[in-house]
Amino acid sequence: MIDAGLPIGVFDSGMGGLTVLRALQAALPSESFIYLGDSARLPYGNKSAVTVQQYALQASAALVDRGIKALVVACNTASAAALPLLAQRYAPLPVFGVIEPGAQAAANAADDGSVLVLATEGTVMDGTYQRALLAVNAGLNIYARACPLWVTLAEQGYAEESQEAETVAEAVLSHALRGFQNRPMVVLLGCTHFPIFRDKLTALLGDAAAIVDSAQTTALQVAAAIQPTGAAKADRVASVMFLATDGVERFRRVGGYFLSEPIDTVELVTL
Ligand code: DGL
Repeated sequence: MIDAGLPIGVFDSGMGGLTVLRALQAALPSESFIYLGDSARLPYGNKSAVTVQQYALQASAALVDRGIKALVVACNTASAAALPLLAQRYAPLPVFGVIEPGAQAAANAADDGSVLVLATEGTVMDGTYQRALLAVNAGLNIYARACPLWVTLAEQGYAEESQEAETVAEAVLSHALRGFQNRPMVVLLGCTHFPIFRDKLTALLGDAAAIVDSAQTTALQVAAAIQPTGAAKADRVASVMFLATDGVERFRRVGGYFLSEPIDTVELVTL
């Protein structure tokens, strides 16, 4: 029997999963969370599935060892490569990924029947999004493009609003959207780092396109499935603990941008 008073564990390769944590906190205000960013080994997106599986198992083990009541894989690349493995390894612990909720959100928005998935190379090559979208609506036209530079850009510069990063962001976004500018479509941000480019994308795409990500749908799915913190613990103050495998000061400083609120302390951990 899992203790309902335990926190929910969340991990990503870096800070992108903080966009999911933000949605989880909004959907579950009385829950506590432990967030782990595997910053020492980022990016996951250009690594082989076997390596990402190994990283995902180690990150999950670190969270499970601290005591959690559910695990959220707030990384599309790790969800694509390792979700069934993690669910099997940690059963009966509830394990949630971000791909199926993201596919659901995109399929719901795809009135014109086309979806452009922007993701890491690993996620695009794996084809999990394509399968998940077709499972929701077999008639969809799906395009998928890898945006390998975006994760680096998000972690290293854009989040700090440098002019240089802004210029590069504009160029790489335009490149990813080439050939699609005049078509109304759904753009699915299939990497948890990408929501920080949302405003820039909106400016490039115009009002015709809907931009969706999996943060909110994932949070709703988790909220519907977990056993809430018990009444006996209702007076407990919800907390968030941050762990990172490298660069804790940078994580603290830049992570606040992804989370939309300041981060006080980040603990350095080794996996
Ligand atoms: N944020 C991760 C995702 O959602 C991947 C970033 C990376 O390449 O590490 O796919």
